[in-house]
Amino acid sequence: MPFPEQRPRRLRRTPALRALVRETDLAPRHLIAPLFVKEGVEGPVPIPSMPGQVQHTLESLRKEARELAERGILGIVLFGVPARKDAEGSEAWNPEGIAQRGLRALHDELGDDAVVMGDLCLDEYTDHGHCGLLTEGGEVDNDATLERYRWVALAQAEAGAHMVAPSGMMDGQVGAIREALDEAGFERTGILAYAAKFASAFYGPFRDAAECAPRFGDRAGYQMDPPNADEALREVWADIGEGADVVMVKPALPYLDVVRRVKDETGYPVAAYNVSGEYAMLKAAAGNGWIDERRAVLEVLTSIRRAGADLVLTYHARDAAAWLASG
Ligand code: PBG
Repeated sequence: MPFPEQRPRRLRRTPALRALVRETDLAPRHLIAPLFVKEGVEGPVPIPSMPGQVQHTLESLRKEARELAERGILGIVLFGVPARKDAEGSEAWNPEGIAQRGLRALHDELGDDAVVMGDLCLDEYTDHGHCGLLTEGGEVDNDATLERYRWVALAQAEAGAHMVAPSGMMDGQVGAIREALDEAGFERTGILAYAAKFASAFYGPFRDAAECAPRFGDRAGYQMDPPNADEALREVWADIGEGADVVMVKPALPYLDVVRRVKDETGYPVAAYNVSGEYAMLKAAAGNGWIDERRAVLEVLTSIRRAGADLVLTYHARDAAAWLASG
């Protein structure tokens, strides 16, 4: 041993010693729970590929939100699953659409005790499943889509969202939404930007949950190519320039290097989205008895925090908060 006086194990001997020198905290306030609300169902509908997650009714949504708040979770991101879809996704900006009704219910239930956010995209609302309007050739039309995103932002802000979370990866989406909000007097409504969102295989279960798998093609023409980290930084800086308040990297685990760079290079509040496929993998392994769910979940969430994320969007939020409270 080159340095016999270095005995790192001294600091690992007891739980108190380990707690004393622990570098990374994980608390309920770091977690944001994604929730789904579905139109026209009698009761909550379980999502088979995401054990423990459901598509809520307005009533079960309220109850879930209340329980999350009681566990110290401060953030909720809401996804609407409408009964009716069309080519433009018009239910996304309908003031009486399911997402807006859900946001109102959450705001009504929690007031300013929690931060209520609307996922802002069109894929749950379009009959073709893409995140924007299509040209005649079947490509996603960037600028026509931005026009719709402005309307969605206003509908969500009017419904009481504290923040909107654009996730469609259209160029200029943050700037367009910021401008629309400001012009309508919603200067105080924040933007959590899905800034570096990769075209990932790990969104599979979500597409069941939100009923939004593309009918044709894929999202590689607008979401980022997985090998690109420098480009992720450019996307993040562009969103910051356009007015993003919080920037997000998505998914989390395969992109922890990107999370670290975004935190170090921007110093902005950074969120990472521990997505549906990451959740499903752990639930499947735990369900088979192959890993200890509690330890694995807390280790994963801690790793995302250690990589530099201030906030973690995760379907484990509810369970993790309970485990953290019980020590
Ligand atoms: C798009 C959106 C997606 C997710 C969040 N917002 C799906 C996609 O891009 O295909 C995925 C989240 C997850 O997998 O948990 N509105």
